[in-house]
Amino acid sequence: MSDCDAAAEPTAEPSDRDTAAGNPPVRRVSDWSADRLADLASEHGTPLYVQDLDRVRENCERLRDAFPDADVRYAVKAHTGRAVLDAVREAGLDAECASAGEVDRALAAGFGGGRLHYTAVNPPAGDLDYVVDVAEAEPDLTVTVGAVDTLDRLAERGYDGRVCVRVNPGVGAGHHEKVRTGGAAKFGIPYDRAAAATRDAAERFDVVGIHAHAGSGIDPDQLDSHRELVARMGELARELADPDDDTPPPDIEYVDVGGGFGVPYEEEEPPLDLPAVAEATREAVAPLPAGVDLAIEPGRYVVADAGVLLTRVNTVKPTPDERVVGVDAGMTDLLRPAMYDAYHPIRNLGGGRESDGSDAPTPEDRSATPVTVAGPICETGDTLCTDRALADPARGDLLAVGIAGAYGYEMANQYNSRPRPAEVALDDGTAAVVRRRETLGDLTTVERDANRNRADGTGADR
Ligand code: LLP
Repeated sequence: MSDCDAAAEPTAEPSDRDTAAGNPPVRRVSDWSADRLADLASEHGTPLYVQDLDRVRENCERLRDAFPDADVRYAVKAHTGRAVLDAVREAGLDAECASAGEVDRALAAGFGGGRLHYTAVNPPAGDLDYVVDVAEAEPDLTVTVGAVDTLDRLAERGYDGRVCVRVNPGVGAGHHEKVRTGGAAKFGIPYDRAAAATRDAAERFDVVGIHAHAGSGIDPDQLDSHRELVARMGELARELADPDDDTPPPDIEYVDVGGGFGVPYEEEEPPLDLPAVAEATREAVAPLPAGVDLAIEPGRYVVADAGVLLTRVNTVKPTPDERVVGVDAGMTDLLRPAMYDAYHPIRNLGGGRESDGSDAPTPEDRSATPVTVAGPICETGDTLCTDRALADPARGDLLAVGIAGAYGYEMANQYNSRPRPAEVALDDGTAAVVRRRETLGDLTTVERDANRNRADGTGADR
């Protein structure tokens, strides 16, 4: 299916099918106020990420409501911004961190050890050193480990604290093969060795949990895989609680079945029925041994629809085959379309001019035209969409790229020496710049630091 078939130009009004409950399951790009977004773009320039903290809170609330008895851990990698972390912490979620850098950010945002879960994936030595150090001050921190070798490396550092064993459940799911972790050998201890590895680990560490993650962006069609993973993890928890010899079973506190709850990127795609997913999860994991809780770690679901990326049309180029709309955001600002062929809804907010300099009509008065929206990076893959019907874009128009709050800014980079965009957070209607726009000077900071250190003899990498 081409983008063009799937896309309908969104209406300016909130979609009433979703807003009835007051906390709708998804906020579409059409639900944002066009005037507000246009004002923010005028004030702060483009490309600009806008992240609505109120929506982040609503998403946390829906997760808490659907999983009232579960430990809910926010996968920080989806959006590490301090304002988001503060909102998530205040909403009562824990933090699941993938690196020393994420642990550092979560600590700074006030997540104490008891709310910190570090998932070590082939952890670099420096990350382990850092986290073991943190654990001395925050002994309630948990390290989730997916290889016996990593357990050995922790033991070598004198760590004997809380450990969760990551299992490779042999079943994966997700929006793209690159994000289906569940069956990939890289992640977790193979399922059939997991019980023995967990028991062995309990001799050296305080083993408090078992963990598996199917992958990211699980849509309603993949819920069977999710259920299968959850059922396997429930079975493993029961097996661990009931050893066939005299060794005392590890004192497991939780079974973490990962994150991955998908959000509907396409306008007509229905949102996940979260209460139904929660119910199916509880059923599949049951019966859990006494004292063992369910845990989940969603990232995308918390932040995706709370964010949009604003970008300005700079060049409109009709060609015999397609109409190419050049914008000031590209794969360096939002990598997902180039990396995963990911679909992001795009709404034309207008404001541009015709080639004769006159004001272009409002988007509602323009015809829907199939276009390629291309960024400023010298790569063919640098497109935000192809063959997509948009209200015919004119130079100067503002485009809102929807559902951009998860893995948007986080995967932004400086390729082609492009400074990263700014980010504004909306909090109870008030807007504040929470990540300033990078400057050309920022691009060379690390080189200049290295050169300065070399010149004054302190060493290039100090
Ligand atoms: N837990 C673990 C161990 C994970 O590896 C991940 C995501 C999550 C939780 C959260 O998954 P979520 O609920 O956000 O789906 N850059 C990709 C997504 C990569 C996700 C990696 N792991 C994208 O833009 O789609």
